[in-house]
Amino acid sequence: MPQVLAPVYQDYYEQIYQGKEDPWDYYSAAEQAKYCHMFETAKRLKPSPLRVLDAGCSLGHLTELLADYAPEVFAFDIAKSAVERTRDRCKKLSTSTRFSVEVGDAIRPHFASASFDVVFLGDVIRNLLTEQDQQLAIRNTLALLNDSGILVLTDCMQCYHQKAYASMVENQGGLVLEKLYYHDRYWLKFRSLVKQLGRPERIRSLLGSTRVHRTLTRLGSFRGPSGSKHFGLVVRRAAA
Ligand SMILES: C[S@@+](CC[C@H](N)C(=O)[O-])C[C@H]1O[C@@H](n2cnc3c(N)ncnc32)[C@H](O)[C@@H]1O
Repeated sequence: MPQVLAPVYQDYYEQIYQGKEDPWDYYSAAEQAKYCHMFETAKRLKPSPLRVLDAGCSLGHLTELLADYAPEVFAFDIAKSAVERTRDRCKKLSTSTRFSVEVGDAIRPHFASASFDVVFLGDVIRNLLTEQDQQLAIRNTLALLNDSGILVLTDCMQCYHQKAYASMVENQGGLVLEKLYYHDRYWLKFRSLVKQLGRPERIRSLLGSTRVHRTLTRLGSFRGPSGSKHFGLVVRRAAA
């Protein structure tokens, strides 16, 4: 456990989880596709890792995909409620993977340096309040990677921030191996329309539709990088 958790984040996120069952529509086709893509990306580059970490795991949707991927899977989140729900989710899995899910802070992660083959850090960095926290979280997360380890990082942003985001990661000691585009610009517009309509059940169910997601993603892909609000990077530690 970390010595000091940033209370500003802990209180804020705990409140979000207390107030909503699924604060970021994780059941939706777009979120599920993002998790699958993050996982498939890691599997392609690191087919047989020993230790994997899901940092900022939220409700554990990505964490559970990691069953059977590695013998040991670690996950943490700043919000206790999220950790409890991730733990419950993992307990129900029938797998030989050993899961360890704890409260923790991405700004000061509580693991030894160089202890992971793969780290996932999905949609956490841009939610940190200051540039200093963002930089620290990236630097300290990169330090968790062993020599051949990879970080799969995603965040939601306007497309014109993608370049600065990649530069920030490089400035903190990352070497960018790949850029990941989720082409979800139109899907997010659709989601916000559904929310404005007050989410009538029949329309809301469309958020879970893979066909709607696929169609809108295809539209987004015609715009190239600017069709993506979710943007990701695969990174490893740059040589010192
Ligand atoms: C938008 S959600 C993203 C969750 C998931 N990783 C994903 O890719 O969809 C952000 C998560 O990060 C967690 N979080 C925010 N600040 C954090 C911090 N300093 N340390 C650890 N987790 C944090 C929140 O509690 C929340 O569960």
